[in-house]
This record gives sequence, C-alpha cells and structure tokens, in this order.
Amino acid sequence: MSDDTFDLVVIGGGPGGYTAAIRASQLGMKTACVEKRETLGGVCLNVGCIPSKALLKSSELYEEAGHDFERRGITIGSLKLDLGKMMGVKQETVKGLTQGIEFLFKKNKVTHVKGTATLEGGGRIAVTGAEARTLKAKNILIATGSDVTPLPNVEVDEKQIVSSTGALELPKVPKKMIVIGAGVIGLELGTVWRRLGAEVTVIEFLDRILPGTDNEVAKATQRILKKQGIEFLLGKKVTGAKKEKSGVTLTFEPSKGGDAETLKADVVLVAIGRRPYTEGLGLDDLGVERDRGGRIIVDKNFKSTVDGVYAIGDVIEGPMLAHKAEDEAVVCVEKMAGQKPHINYDTIPAVVYTWPEVATVGKTEEQLKEANIAYNVGKVPFVANSRARANGFTEGFVKILADKKTDKVLGVHIIGPDAGTIIHECVLAMEFGASSEDIARTCHAHPTLNEAVKEAALAVLGRTINS
Ligand code: FAD
Ligand code: NAI
Repeated sequence: MSDDTFDLVVIGGGPGGYTAAIRASQLGMKTACVEKRETLGGVCLNVGCIPSKALLKSSELYEEAGHDFERRGITIGSLKLDLGKMMGVKQETVKGLTQGIEFLFKKNKVTHVKGTATLEGGGRIAVTGAEARTLKAKNILIATGSDVTPLPNVEVDEKQIVSSTGALELPKVPKKMIVIGAGVIGLELGTVWRRLGAEVTVIEFLDRILPGTDNEVAKATQRILKKQGIEFLLGKKVTGAKKEKSGVTLTFEPSKGGDAETLKADVVLVAIGRRPYTEGLGLDDLGVERDRGGRIIVDKNFKSTVDGVYAIGDVIEGPMLAHKAEDEAVVCVEKMAGQKPHINYDTIPAVVYTWPEVATVGKTEEQLKEANIAYNVGKVPFVANSRARANGFTEGFVKILADKKTDKVLGVHIIGPDAGTIIHECVLAMEFGASSEDIARTCHAHPTLNEAVKEAALAVLGRTINS
C-alpha cells in the first residue's frame, strides 16, 4: 500500500472521528484522519464540552466562595475575579486534552493529516491546506460534525453578538447578557456568566425551556435557575438586532403574534440549535443523500447512499452529543471489520451541566403517554436524601418510569446535585433490561446521593422507606 492509500480515511477529528480512527487502527485497518482545525478533538474538545465545563467549574467555585462559604463558617476575605486567569485554566485544559489525542494517534498508528478534505469519488479524497495531497481509501467515514444554526437578522460577530464559541472567550463580564434559546447551550453558558456577575435574560421561542426534556424536570429547572437570578421570557420570537457601541438592542414579539418589544444588552448569545456541517465535502456531486435537515442519510451500518462512504456523529440523525458520536464510531468501524456490535439509542444519557444538573435517559412521561404505554412513576425528592442534606443542597428529585405490566425501567429523569454522575447506574440498569425491583434490591452505599435512585425505584413499587 502506498503512503497515501488507506483502508479507512476519516474526515473530522472530533469525538466521532478520532474515536473511529483509533478503533479502526486497533482492528488492523491502515487509517488516516483528516482534520482542518489546527488541533484534534473537534467542537467538543476545542469549543464545546470541555471549555464550557472548565468555565462551569470555575464559575461554580466563584459563586460558592461568594455565597456558600460564609454560611458554613469559612471566611476567606474579599472575593476577586481574575477572568484572564480563569480563561487561562480553560485554555490549558483544552490544550492538554487536544494534545492528548495527538498522542493517542501516535500510540495507535493513526496518520493525522492536517487540511480540508473533499470527496472526489472512486475512493479519492483531496486534501487542501498545509499538507495538500490526494488520499485513496477503501472506505471513507464522514465525521464532520455540526455548526451553529444562524438566526436571520441577528448576525453573529463573536464580539457583541456571539455564538457559543464567542461566549467561551468573552474578554470581560458583560453587565447585561441576553441569551436567545433556552436549550442546553443557553442554560449552561447563561449560568457561567450569571455566576460571574452578568444579569442574564433568556428569550425562548417556545413556552417552555429544554424542549424534549421531561416536562416536570424542565419546569423544576426553570424555577431553580430563576431563583438563582436568570430571567426567562418564554413564547417570544426575536425579529431583529441593532448594534451600537453601547450595546445591542433586540426586537422580539410573542411567538404567536402580537406587539413588538425591545431589550438591550452588552452581549447577545445566539443558541438556537446546531446544524450538520457538510460544507465543501462535495457530497452532491458524489450522490451522498441528505435529509431535509441536511443530515447525511445512513443505514444501520452507518453506510450512506454511496458504497464505501459512511457517516457518524452530529452529521447524521440523533442527539448531537459527544458520547453518541463516540459510540457510533466504535460500532461503525467494528461492523466494517466484520464484527457484530450494537448501539442502543434508548439508553443514551443526556446531561445539562447547570447546578443542579439535569440528567435523563430513556422515555419521558410525555413520550410514554403519546405511545400509549402504561407506566408507573416513582419520584423521590433529594430533600429525603441524607447525603444531599449533609452537603447542604437538597433541590431536585429522581423520577423513575417503569412499565406498568413488566416493571421494566423505561426512563429516568433526575434534577439534582451531581445528577450527571448519578444517572449512570440507571443507564447501566436499562442497558441490562432491569426492572425497578432490580434497582430497589441493589445495595446502595450510605450515605450517597445514589440512594435517591434506590428510593425512587422503591417508590415505583409503592414501598419507600425514607420518604
Ligand atoms: P465535531 O466535534 O463537530 O468534529 C467535527 C470535526 O470535523 C471538526 O473538528 C471540524 O473542523 C472537522 N471538519 C469538518 N469538515 C471538515 C473537512 N471537510 N475536512 C476536514 N475536517 C473537517 N456534547 C456532550 O455530549 N456533552 C457536552 O457537555 C457538550 N457540550 C457542548 C458545549 C458546546 C458549547 C457545544 C457547541 C457542543 C457541546 N456538545 C456536548 C456537543 C458535542 O460537542 C458534539 O456532539 C460533538 O462534538 C460531535 O462530535 P463529532 O465528532 O460528530 O463532530
Ligand atoms: P438546543 O436545541 O438544545 O436548544 C435550542 C433552543 O432554542 C430550543 O429551546 C429552541 O426552542 C430555541 N429556539 C429555536 N429557535 C429560536 C428562536 N428563533 N428564538 C428563540 N428561541 C429559539 O440547541 P443549543 O442549546 O444551541 O445546543 C445545540 C446542541 O449542542 C444541543 O442539541 C446539544 O445536543 C449540544 N450540546 C450539548 C450539551 C450537553 O450535553 N451538556 C451542552 C451544549 C450543547
């Protein structure tokens, strides 16, 4: 095989792409990964999951130090924010992790090609940029991810009107910030800047926040975030933005029609969703079909409508989550290698990393009602959990939905401290087809937050002990 000929060329070095490249190489395929960004790791490591979580952690500590310590008898003198240093910690975290992927590529003998890839047909991939060359591959895997959905009349300049990327590197704390979209990005990044001192107002098109999340959990989230200081304007449609030196004036009106209103802020964050990114790949010339949302259509083996061309991650259907992309990556290349792995889309967890966290897996009550599936509910508040009481944070609850006839767990929805960690015992239980009785009879260490899961499973069966 020549230097430019591979068994597999992966396009995109994000969680989907880098995971696929590493696993393919482990399976004996000669593999290259083309990435147009300077660093590997995609949106997630560079401008997504990781920098946002670094800022969430730092801002959480800042808020705790300002509000919680004194209550606990800890005096630390005057509190001061060094935003530059906080951003530095975020950047160091990103650098360490993206360099880590470079190391993993070397360790697993994946060829990293820096540049922008275009499919030319016949298994050829033209790479432009610093390392311009033409690669040849038996199979091509597209993992080019997603980018920000634009909002007409509200043009992102990444200074006054920012996307999540700009919101992760604001040079100073805005006095007032408007977030358009009460989805995951809006709530997480709105939380960061609210904690650091901004007055945050979230404007949402729908009459609820976090669409797709269990209604009861979304309502509780809104109530708690409002108590923390975030204002919500629901059922409002933004129609325009006027930029001046002193700030941005947004115009909006009721989604169902009505009188226009205005609101001014120093910074506006546009977070109304993300769309699949396939620009410049040459898909139309090749006949790789996409659906109406621009997502590459694939079969259960992740094969597109063209032989030898596969796709995974944000660029195909399903939740735009890093762990979904990673799991698809492994399944896709293992299938290429003739193995028989599976992916269970019913057990992909989703976490919103606000405080408290929101974590869900499986069906919501609304989905079960719509599908006419009879279910039992077990719901337990964290106020009944001794560890939550000892930690001093008792807001939220665990809610388990189980099939009325079989008791099989169909969905778990948690809002509460460390919900994103707690949820994983439920994910595992559901992966193994557990009933709520199985969870209720599993010994849970005391005192732990996870005991609320056991108690909620007992609640499904109508025999709680501690609540
Ligand atoms: P991406 O990570 O988007 O990677 C695609 C890569 O392909 C990019 O690096 C791009 O440069 C490259 N590329 C595109 N076209 C070409 C081309 N023609 N040639 C070469 N390279 C190309 N998900 C979570 O699960 N948890 C979180 O906490 C979380 N937080 C997030 C926070 C923010 C602010 C954002 C924006 C997203 C967050 N996400 C989170 C979503 C997560 O980042 C994505 O689901 C994940 O990155 C998708 O992985 P991917 O491999 O499909 O694509
Ligand atoms: P989102 O889809 O989560 O939320 C977008 C929100 O904007 C929705 O509530 C929607 O109703 C609203 N909206 C749409 N158009 C609007 C308009 N014109 N005016 C006002 N509101 C409008 O999208 P978001 O927050 O941009 O995140 C994109 C993706 O990134 C998510 O789908 C998620 O999968 C991923 N992500 C995941 C994270 C995590 O797992 N913790 C963190 C951040 C992002």
